[in-house]
Amino acid sequence: MSNSDAVMPNDLSAFWMPFTANRQFKKSPRMFVAAKDMHYTTADGRQVLDGTAGLWCVNAGHARPKIVEAIAKQAAELDYAPAFQMGHPKAFELANRLVDIAPKGLDHVLFTNSGSESVETALKVALAYHRVKGDGARSRLIGRERGYHGVNFGGISVGGIVTNRKMFGTLLTGVDHMPHTHIIGKNAFTRGEPQHGVELADELERIVTLHDASTIAAVIVEPVAGSTGVLIPPVGYLKRLREITKKHGILLIFDEVITGYGRLGTPFAADYFGVTPDIMVTAKGLSNGVIPMGAVLVSAEIHDAFMGGPEHVIEFFHGYTYSGNPVASAAALATLETYKDEGLLTRGAELAPYFEEALHSLKGLPHVIDIRNIGLVGAIELEPIAGQPTKRAFSAFLQAYEQGLLIRTTGDIIALSPPLIVEKSHIDQMVGTLSNILKTLE
Ligand SMILES: Cc1ncc(COP(=O)(O)O)c(C=O)c1O
Repeated sequence: MSNSDAVMPNDLSAFWMPFTANRQFKKSPRMFVAAKDMHYTTADGRQVLDGTAGLWCVNAGHARPKIVEAIAKQAAELDYAPAFQMGHPKAFELANRLVDIAPKGLDHVLFTNSGSESVETALKVALAYHRVKGDGARSRLIGRERGYHGVNFGGISVGGIVTNRKMFGTLLTGVDHMPHTHIIGKNAFTRGEPQHGVELADELERIVTLHDASTIAAVIVEPVAGSTGVLIPPVGYLKRLREITKKHGILLIFDEVITGYGRLGTPFAADYFGVTPDIMVTAKGLSNGVIPMGAVLVSAEIHDAFMGGPEHVIEFFHGYTYSGNPVASAAALATLETYKDEGLLTRGAELAPYFEEALHSLKGLPHVIDIRNIGLVGAIELEPIAGQPTKRAFSAFLQAYEQGLLIRTTGDIIALSPPLIVEKSHIDQMVGTLSNILKTLE
């Protein structure tokens, strides 16, 4: 018998699943086999309401016709074109459409295949920018505690997640971190931006004093930290970071992988907070999660700094085989069209008050120590079970799935970020299901 004959088609062991409790999953698998609009269909034929837009990426909802058609058409017409020294029209068109919807001043686009790659690309642009300007001593990168910037070495170095530090060695050198802004003791149950904590931005001044501005290339933050539990910046915090970075000639990078493409009720978080970074990192909602794609937007000043030197020489020594892939570009263009047709990049603003009210109705239920929200993203933080962190929220996740609702949990925090086509009735269902679960959760 050959090796392949021995593999049963339903054997789950070969696939080592990402960010998953593999043994638990394989004992009791949770399989989706189809999806449409706001719902998944499970292998056993149940409908599950998507409370998380997949992994914060399916902003237009599932299996949207324009996107499906565009992908099929493009795959038949031009499946692949080399990304280096060759081009195809859709990548250029997409870059233009992105610049059209991006905050003013972000005029050039580099394409990637994921949020993690977008982060690495942004950090490399920042380092190289200072070099081409003759300021190569600026090599230090500043991130933030509880920051999540994907899984590659640059991203986990500027990120502030303890497991990455424990498991993967010393990471990049020359990195420092600002404190996170989650001060639950003062800001619990805040609706929207918390009042307390703007002074945490001044920690950047302390870091500048320690290292000297002349050694610092860039600061990277998520405007709203998503994956570590929906940490919303205090009023005025991002503006102050912008002032400090500008004053010291340090580039400001916003990682908008989650906040981009309408999540906060504005096209980007930069629009919501009225703060424009020098570099904006995006992915996820760019192509509605259907085909992997990311985009990094940079200012003209950064782009133009690279455009000296002989014309036959590659200006920026970086790129991916699939940067601006034709099928991904077609998917992203159709995604942006769908957003435009249905006003999805701002729809979150209309629904945010209803979402906020519904979410905060869970205050007072057992174990709930905080509820927070902004745009169409919200979090319910639970008191951890003593000595067993993450278990309580994971148990809520499993129960929600059984009761027909997909939520996301991180630590003991439940996060909700529905597709932007969500209706009030869906919000009622999400909150109703969570309310039932929280009442009996151990
Ligand atoms: C802020 C942020 N940056 C980067 C990433 C990494 O994106 P990807 O998983 O597409 O590599 C994520 C993913 O959740 C994210 O939330």
